[in-house]
Amino acid sequence: MRTRVGIVGAGPAGLTLAHLLHLEGIDSVVLENRSREYVEARIRAGVLEQRTVDLLVGAGVGERLLREGIVHHGIELQFGGERHRVPLSELTGGKTIVIYGQTEVVKDLIEARLATGRPLLFEVDDVRLEEVTSTRPRLRFRHEGRPQELECDLIAGCDGFHGVCRPSVPPGVLTAFSREYAYGWLGILAAVAPSSDELVYSSHERGFALLSLRSPSLSRLYLQVRADEDVAEWPDERIWAELHLRLGLPGWTLTEGPVLEKGVTGMRSYVVEPMRHGNLFLAGDAAHIVPPTGAKGLNLAIHDVRVLANAIVRWYRSGDESALERYSDECLRHVWRAEHFSWWMTSMLHLPPDEDPFGLRLRLAQLHYVATSRAAATSLAENYVGFEL
Ligand code: APR
Ligand code: PHB
Repeated sequence: MRTRVGIVGAGPAGLTLAHLLHLEGIDSVVLENRSREYVEARIRAGVLEQRTVDLLVGAGVGERLLREGIVHHGIELQFGGERHRVPLSELTGGKTIVIYGQTEVVKDLIEARLATGRPLLFEVDDVRLEEVTSTRPRLRFRHEGRPQELECDLIAGCDGFHGVCRPSVPPGVLTAFSREYAYGWLGILAAVAPSSDELVYSSHERGFALLSLRSPSLSRLYLQVRADEDVAEWPDERIWAELHLRLGLPGWTLTEGPVLEKGVTGMRSYVVEPMRHGNLFLAGDAAHIVPPTGAKGLNLAIHDVRVLANAIVRWYRSGDESALERYSDECLRHVWRAEHFSWWMTSMLHLPPDEDPFGLRLRLAQLHYVATSRAAATSLAENYVGFEL
């Protein structure tokens, strides 16, 4: 088999790249090791920046997103028994965010890909990369029990943090930068109307909590827990009791509902530089991850593949490699802005296990500053809606 761009991974990065290339008439093959059912059921984040929405709509895959996505103009910060609204749109010249699950984005992209008739292979095993520094890099894999070989011009490593593309780069080529956090999030999806119209980020003495949503009848809620927390220790009643404590306010009630899904995710900041090795280009979680507090992961992944698709198109059109050469630097500028913002939001809102009284007072001073200074709130807002570098 032969294609122009071999894409490993059918998450938002791989599928969006495949679609952007298709719109320009460029062939690609997408290889995904999970089943379609698994990928379409996996619950992930749900906040889309305006430019992410614009890209998906512009690419013709935003029809359901425009119908079902919920536009938000602000978020709430809660601490010291009070909520403070950060009016995102007012502070950013009218920009908004849209609540629409990553799972739904992925479903829409899979449907669009299948409609093109171009290859998207699920349940592919043992993907291996060969000769990525040559002009004929290859992907070897097994599909339906048979070994396959795919010759490409370029390979896009869109296979997430635990994928094979980044580890296939020889030692010493990439530099990794990372930070681990001593806590994680216990997340639930609950069949109940969200108790607040806007997202509530609560910094509480018992730890952080977040009230989010997926639809008018589905709530998404998170609790800060230990990074190695066993979800079995959290029966539904305990989760709700803790959510009431951390999100509760006099005169406001959190409405409970059946828990449809629950899980614990660890938190980490991680970046590799550069995001390219020869003709292998890393994009999305394969190259960088952020803690979820700033809601940046999906948006960064989409940004990477927009830059990559434009660079690939230019190269095929005119033989001009300069945009491909700039790919890594161009993405990393955005990545580091989002890394800083995500780390900052995370550090401000979470209770570290070893926090001393000085540390607590610094965090509270920062929260008060964001809640009272228009300049500080604007800084949060312009990053949250997506900062244009
Ligand atoms: N071979 C083929 N596919 C693989 C392999 C492999 N060896 N390893 C992983 N994959 C697939 C995964 O099953 C997944 O479907 O690659 C895909 C990677 O998708 P994501 O993890 O969603 O990563 P990305 O597309 O970069 O999107 C980033 O996902 O994790 C969230 O918070 C993150 O919102 C961000 C978004
Ligand atoms: C979510 O709804 O899953 C969500 C929202 C905001 C975040 C992180 C996750 O910061």
